Amino acid sequence: MIDSESNDTVDYGRLVWSDDLVLGVNSIDEQHREWIALVQAFEHAVTEGRPAEEMRSTLAAAVAYTESHFADEQQVMEEAGYPFLDDHIGQHQLAWDRVHAFASGEVADEEMRRSLAEFLPQWLMLHINTADRQFARWLKGTMTPGTGSGTSPGGPTGPDGRVFGDIPV
Ligand SMILES: [Fe+2]
Repeated sequence: MIDSESNDTVDYGRLVWSDDLVLGVNSIDEQHREWIALVQAFEHAVTEGRPAEEMRSTLAAAVAYTESHFADEQQVMEEAGYPFLDDHIGQHQLAWDRVHAFASGEVADEEMRRSLAEFLPQWLMLHINTADRQFARWLKGTMTPGTGSGTSPGGPTGPDGRVFGDIPV
């Protein structure tokens, strides 16, 4: 689904695909588009109060795709020799742990779905726009720490080489 409303700015609070999210790495961009569609389906099922079976099935599809997407994306990064791969895997892992914490059975289904329907869209949008974008910039050899403009080349900012050291997960 394409939302043409937000071509200039990205609202991290809303889960919509827009050209702002294109990283220029085709295989990852295609997966991000599909990933967003699946998480959107789950989010809509929850916010629209769809039958429990629809919430369950859309959540299962979104979670399964999240897992396979993480694995595929990490493979692309590994094959490219991405120097911050461990850091990126760590971010995926934290999100994954959070999803599993929700789905551990200790939280009531209703509460778990509502929490995930809030967490997943926000995390996904922020992650694509920060950590995944960092990889795309590195791949193109024009990493621009902190500016977000994509116009001036530069190197890592922090002492440990992380460009986006404060990404919440
Ligand atoms: Fe990622």
